[in-house]
Amino acid sequence: MNYFDSELKAIKRANRFRHRKLYDDTLTDFASNDFLGLAQNKTIAKKSANCFLKQHNYGSKSSMIVNGYHDIHHKLEKLLCRTNGFESGIIVGSGFLANISLFESMARRGDMLVVDESYHASGMMASRLSRAKVEIFAHNNTAQLERILRQNHNTHKRKIVAIEGVYSMSGDMANPDIYDICNRYEAILIVDEAHSSGVVGENLNGWFDYNNLKIKSNHIKMATFGKAYGSYGAYILGSRQLISYLENRAKPVIYSTALSLFDTIYAYYSIKHIQKNKQKIRDKIKQIQATTKEILGINMPALILPINQSSNRATIQAQNKLQKAGFAVGAIRQPTVKTPIIRIIPKINIKLAKLKVVLDIIKNI
Ligand SMILES: Cc1ncc(COP(=O)(O)O)c(C=O)c1O
Repeated sequence: MNYFDSELKAIKRANRFRHRKLYDDTLTDFASNDFLGLAQNKTIAKKSANCFLKQHNYGSKSSMIVNGYHDIHHKLEKLLCRTNGFESGIIVGSGFLANISLFESMARRGDMLVVDESYHASGMMASRLSRAKVEIFAHNNTAQLERILRQNHNTHKRKIVAIEGVYSMSGDMANPDIYDICNRYEAILIVDEAHSSGVVGENLNGWFDYNNLKIKSNHIKMATFGKAYGSYGAYILGSRQLISYLENRAKPVIYSTALSLFDTIYAYYSIKHIQKNKQKIRDKIKQIQATTKEILGINMPALILPINQSSNRATIQAQNKLQKAGFAVGAIRQPTVKTPIIRIIPKINIKLAKLKVVLDIIKNI
């Protein structure tokens, strides 16, 4: 029996068919989220391997709540709290699990969850697991967000707002006014910093850092190790009470094996590397942003460059053209985005000359 025949045919007809491919190493990678090239950093890899071999256990063995919590998890959590100015933090298996942990456990019956329409699929899915009233506001529309919070100010117990620091597909930043609006309405603010951590801000810590925002007890930062940090996994930072609550209520924290020790160690050394080299990294990012502005006239606030396409077919053709020239780029279509884009990630470890070639091809398509 072909149980999924008609669905797969419909996806193909719409030019939305996806499949995993083995990555062709000969292509220059403008497609992944390895913004700083740290997934290819031999020094970090060697340090991590040496540290890993010195551990007592090589696997994390169980959930953090049983006995899967290791020294290295604790050390990384402390480093993250210190560098980001949060009271407490917890490492989670992945960004997907972190969003499920937050949305499902925090937003209970009688609460309200207000989410930007461009929030990551993991948050959107998790909002459907929540018993709270869920409202979606138009992307970065602060007037609509404020209206929702005002109208529901006295009718809902906890009000939770969820945004991304830098949006994964459009590459733009969350409006900093959201910080004030949430404070005014005593709302909890969750910021998914998957694409802003390591890329924006004076200390490359992300959106809070970029906007110089004071961290208070209603602020939560969630970010991943799978992007700028070149590893895998995620973390949540917040008040001591929030982290204790997650240890008691968040199912992916309680019922899922702790993040692998190697990934944790790799993230630790990546963060140390970023701290040590932040001036150089910031300069390189600025140079890339200036080049993009010069060639395409586009302001790119972080390291995500979306190029709008007229159709799914045109998107795939553009991707193929760039691939033939030796470059891997993302061809992002619905349902990930409303209208298709070529998504270019100008990683800082790629020579500027190559970026210029890609941008010139894009200009001429
Ligand atoms: C904004 C955002 N949040 C969460 C995630 C999920 O993170 P992870 O890949 O660690 O599960 C992603 C990953 O693609 C993302 O882009």
